[in-house]
Amino acid sequence: MPRLLPRVLHHARKIDPLLPLVLQATRDLASAKNELRWLKEFVIEQQSRHPKHDDRKVLDQRLRQVCIDRARGKPLQYIMGSEYFGDLEISCEKGVLIPRQETATSVTHLIILLHHSSNNKTKTPLPNNLKLLDLCTGTGCIPLLSHYLFTSIHKRKAENLEVVGVDISPLALKLAKKNLQNLIAEGTIQKKPNLRFLQADVLSSTDGHGDAAIPSLKSALEHYNFTSDLAGSGKSSWDIIISNPPYISPQAFARTTTRSVKRYEPRLALVPPYTASDKDTNQGDLFYPHLLSIAASHSAKIVLFEVADLQQAIRVSAMAIHQNIWDGIQIWRDDPMAAETVGDTALDGKVKVVGQGHGRSVVVYRGVGKQWLGVED
Ligand SMILES: C[S@@+](CC[C@H](N)C(=O)[O-])C[C@H]1O[C@@H](n2cnc3c(N)ncnc32)[C@H](O)[C@@H]1O
Repeated sequence: MPRLLPRVLHHARKIDPLLPLVLQATRDLASAKNELRWLKEFVIEQQSRHPKHDDRKVLDQRLRQVCIDRARGKPLQYIMGSEYFGDLEISCEKGVLIPRQETATSVTHLIILLHHSSNNKTKTPLPNNLKLLDLCTGTGCIPLLSHYLFTSIHKRKAENLEVVGVDISPLALKLAKKNLQNLIAEGTIQKKPNLRFLQADVLSSTDGHGDAAIPSLKSALEHYNFTSDLAGSGKSSWDIIISNPPYISPQAFARTTTRSVKRYEPRLALVPPYTASDKDTNQGDLFYPHLLSIAASHSAKIVLFEVADLQQAIRVSAMAIHQNIWDGIQIWRDDPMAAETVGDTALDGKVKVVGQGHGRSVVVYRGVGKQWLGVED
């Protein structure tokens, strides 16, 4: 990381004595000014909730402390306790990955595409009871945003929507449930949604043992179906499966992941576990074969997986081609809505590359999924 020039720090100090601290984290003055303003608003707002401590000295100390935390690289979202994901304010806590805007962009694009084609009367409509499964859910941001968009943009009734988020981490599940309650309380998500968060290990086909045993996805979903309001609708099939799994190889984590992410965000959410037989790249890709086989066995019509970059997108697309069950595969870049380079394809034209920016997700579809997505021949 390049050093900050003394004259830049001097200039920042003249504007505000706390600005050089925030500048250590942001590295540019305009962002540092914005962040310092947000941090001041945040500290004042917190203080106002405890009128007894309404003392200028306490406020100044608190503000200085959050600026020091920021200088040490603590993410703003962990300090302030939330991040926007699309239109939703999602609570963030240490130990659970902070949701990223690129993820929100891909999920929103998917749901807007489904909306366009559901307005087209010649196409097969989405099912009356739409089922969406999000694997590796973290804060629950994907199920929550999906639920919100289906009920707001699609005007789908909440009772016709079944959404489940799955994660291995108890911390993540606790936060996801808290986020759901917050969004219901503020009226962003309708009351009593059919939206649940379950614990399961998506990499394991058998249940764990012992006190804190983690169930396999199969048994978590079986148990859930048993108690679900829609239990009568039968077997565990999911129309749409989304996942933003851990996908960074250990080498990329060591070399390219920022200090702040390494220090503050959970490795469990970023790097797949080590398996002795795997090479470094394979370890980064570890989740995808499991996720694709889950999608195959749960009759998914559309699948959206986030990936690190175009190279990983191409490897995941090759895995999907190898399954030989999908009618189409697309790679979406960071901005999938931007006009793409005409004829941009990968893997000998078998995979269409959509939008502009870095490779961000792989979308596979089959059967009616093709019509739901509005893909033309
Ligand atoms: C990259 S984060 C994604 C979080 C969230 N979906 C998002 O987009 O912000 C990956 C998540 O996978 C979870 N995870 C890691 N290993 C898992 C496993 N074997 N089974 C289920 N979830 C797992 C982590 O706890 C983490 O919350």
